[in-house]
Amino acid sequence: VEQSIREFIGETIRTIPDFPKEGIQFKDITTLLQDKRALELTSYMLAQPYRHKNIDYVVGLESRGFLFGTNLAQDLNAGFVPVRKPGKLPAKTLSESYELEYGEDHMEIHEDALFEGAKVIIHDDLIATGGTASAASKLVQRLGGEVIGYSFIIELSFLNGREHLIPNTPVESILIE
Ligand code: PRP
Ligand code: MG
Repeated sequence: VEQSIREFIGETIRTIPDFPKEGIQFKDITTLLQDKRALELTSYMLAQPYRHKNIDYVVGLESRGFLFGTNLAQDLNAGFVPVRKPGKLPAKTLSESYELEYGEDHMEIHEDALFEGAKVIIHDDLIATGGTASAASKLVQRLGGEVIGYSFIIELSFLNGREHLIPNTPVESILIE
């Protein structure tokens, strides 16, 4: 049953060639979001591995990690914490840089976003190189949070993003390409 759900969800995701630049096969989840059955099944599949794990917070990564992040938090009876791009969070923040193809970027979290020892799931729509999720992991750890696992809709496994995540920590991806 789970395999057919994965296949169904996969069919609702659209691949756009050469967006935002040549050579990139962009995974467009707007078509998944439009489909009410895919929307519900994606929420279900994201929550499934982490039910009854006493998760305190889902950390969602701006911007596409916000789309399912708050819903996942509710399903896990957890709170939601946004990790945002620079200059967006209004209170005191911690910042972590990560590498891009050319140069680097930063992600930020509020200093008071979570309590020490909090059990955290890091969620995003997609993991590619793992740079974004790795920066988020460091932010959570700097605040004393414990990363219990990662949650993605799509994993581009040929980019080996998992290797940049915290070792021996579960990575749950609905679709692995
Ligand atoms: C995309 C995607 C992930 C990230 C994955 O976000 O939504 O957050 O890239 O890439 P990585 O594993 O190589 O770090 P993007 O930066 O395009 O921004 P958006 O979510 O705001 O659209
Ligand atoms: Mg993103």
